[in-house]
Amino acid sequence: MVSAAHPYLDKEHQKIQGLFDSIAPRYDFLNHLLSLGIDVYWRRRAVEELRPRAGGRYLDACCGTGDLSFTLQEKHGPQGQISVVGSDFSLGMLRHGVKKRGKEQKRLRSFPTFLAGDTLKLPFEDATFDGVAVAFGIRNVHDLSAGLRELRRVVRPGGRVVILEFTPLRIPVVGAVFHFYLEHILPRIGNFIARSNDRAYTYLNDSIRRWPDGETLSEQMRNAGLCAIEWRTLFPWNVALHAGTRG
Ligand SMILES: C[S@@+](CC[C@H](N)C(=O)[O-])C[C@H]1O[C@@H](n2cnc3c(N)ncnc32)[C@H](O)[C@@H]1O
Repeated sequence: MVSAAHPYLDKEHQKIQGLFDSIAPRYDFLNHLLSLGIDVYWRRRAVEELRPRAGGRYLDACCGTGDLSFTLQEKHGPQGQISVVGSDFSLGMLRHGVKKRGKEQKRLRSFPTFLAGDTLKLPFEDATFDGVAVAFGIRNVHDLSAGLRELRRVVRPGGRVVILEFTPLRIPVVGAVFHFYLEHILPRIGNFIARSNDRAYTYLNDSIRRWPDGETLSEQMRNAGLCAIEWRTLFPWNVALHAGTRG
């Protein structure tokens, strides 16, 4: 059962922006805690799925505090000389990404560029990027179809759009345990640690429960003009990785 609708489930821009601004200081810590660190593995798989090539330009849309941008830059930056742009409309989240750039100064030799941008109206020309990835972001975008069309617009023909997102877990017992965790444990821990008056982690549960399954998302990607859609779930099967190509 989905709990009483969270007031932000209509995903109105300013509410979602404010929600992420407010949890930004504790976002990374909670991500790693609530996923038991598995989120690092999920983002690595998403980066592999992007199949970055030397000299390429890549966009991490809805980048938040930039974990996917850093993973991409770390794996392919120095050797491959790729360039990575992270865009998000929450300045609070972006500020934390910029702070992490400072901390990563010694370890990484090249860095992602972060900029403010709405995924429904990305500040880039058509076909700017060789690939686009979104990790746990597109679920929060007000209009999914428009968001997918916008991702397709900024990728070059032949380039890939990769989406990492939660997906309904339909395995008996495991699914029930996960849903119990999602509905009763995660919101309590998350809202408490993030001191979220907006109940951001209740919103997380509700938005995941209302999110389409993998086949439906594939269909939506196809409708947005992407082709050769492939998808699979990632351990522990509550996360799906979708990839499509701009024809
Ligand atoms: C759950 S966080 C994911 C952050 C990051 N990609 C990660 O893997 O941790 C969702 C992000 O999507 C951003 N977001 C939601 N709707 C957006 C929109 N229309 N335009 C730009 N960013 C958006 C939020 O500000 C937030 O930073």
